[in-house]
Amino acid sequence: MSRRILSGLQPTGDIHIGNYLGAIQQWVELSRQYDGFYCVVDYHAITAQHEVELLQQRSFDAALQFIAAGVDLERSEIFIQSTVPEHTELAWVFSTITPMGLLERMTQFKDKSRKNNKNINAGLFTYPVLQTADILLYKATDVPVGEDQAQHIELAREITQKFNNRYGELFPEPRTLITQARRIIGLDGKNKMSKSLNNHIAIMDTDEEIAAKLRSAVTDTRRVRLTDPGEPTDCNIFALHDFFTSPEQREEIATGCRNATIGCGECKKILADNISSFLTPLRDSISDLQQHPDTVRDVLQRGTARAGELARETMAEVRSRIGIR
Ligand code: TRP
Ligand code: SF4
Repeated sequence: MSRRILSGLQPTGDIHIGNYLGAIQQWVELSRQYDGFYCVVDYHAITAQHEVELLQQRSFDAALQFIAAGVDLERSEIFIQSTVPEHTELAWVFSTITPMGLLERMTQFKDKSRKNNKNINAGLFTYPVLQTADILLYKATDVPVGEDQAQHIELAREITQKFNNRYGELFPEPRTLITQARRIIGLDGKNKMSKSLNNHIAIMDTDEEIAAKLRSAVTDTRRVRLTDPGEPTDCNIFALHDFFTSPEQREEIATGCRNATIGCGECKKILADNISSFLTPLRDSISDLQQHPDTVRDVLQRGTARAGELARETMAEVRSRIGIR
């Protein structure tokens, strides 16, 4: 059977190096090997407090950044979820076969409810049902996601089985492709890098912004004075060097840190320079697309058309299976 990818991109505005290294880079890699659908999930985004005037632009920007990252446009369709209304239609059907008990177990729901206990809405609760619809509408076989989404894809498989058992085999069970090989810790040295914690470096940050953010980033706390030796393996700055710095240069830094011949300031400056050169081509293609938004619009329009075709086909099958014509 030919395999097909589906994944969902959050329209969260600027992506940061954590998203980029943790997910996007690997999705771009996968996009060369499989046919894929990549959906900017604006209907998911409204389950949290959002800025109404910004949502459309953010969705567009998410698509733009993904295209700039080099996704293979020969094999991939990129589109905005709300432009294919069958997503919400299928989500309704799935919500009628999803046990409440399964949704109650979702750790993301529990986390989000705890963090935002003034807005625990039903959409937040059924969020993974819409996610399942995103996947099955295209009969996707493979879903690249970070570790934190594994439970949702597991649930998608359970919904798939329930549908197939009740209405006859229609959907393949989607497999999870874990793409977040490593957790990328933010500049606070504690939490996963995330925009909401403001411990991130955005890919569109300028060289000066990157340097400034790194200057105030947490290092090995044993290095109070320049003469105090440090331990690179206890330092998140060193962990970041892993992604951007050559092994030889890393070796030098590690030794220098351990015998206190290199200061944290210098170490961070090297990192800032390396991150800047790493990001330059990406930032260039983003600015390039920002100057040619029609290119992005064309990609999205084609995406909506192709996705819509498949979605309507699937929805017709679903309707007939459930006795609605
Ligand atoms: N819930 C995913 C996240 O928070 C985004 C998403 C929505 C998704 N629909 C999807 C991911 C379908 C994979 C497949 O990152
Ligand atoms: Fe971390 Fe570098 Fe300072 Fe060592 S020198 S503690 S690796 S920032």
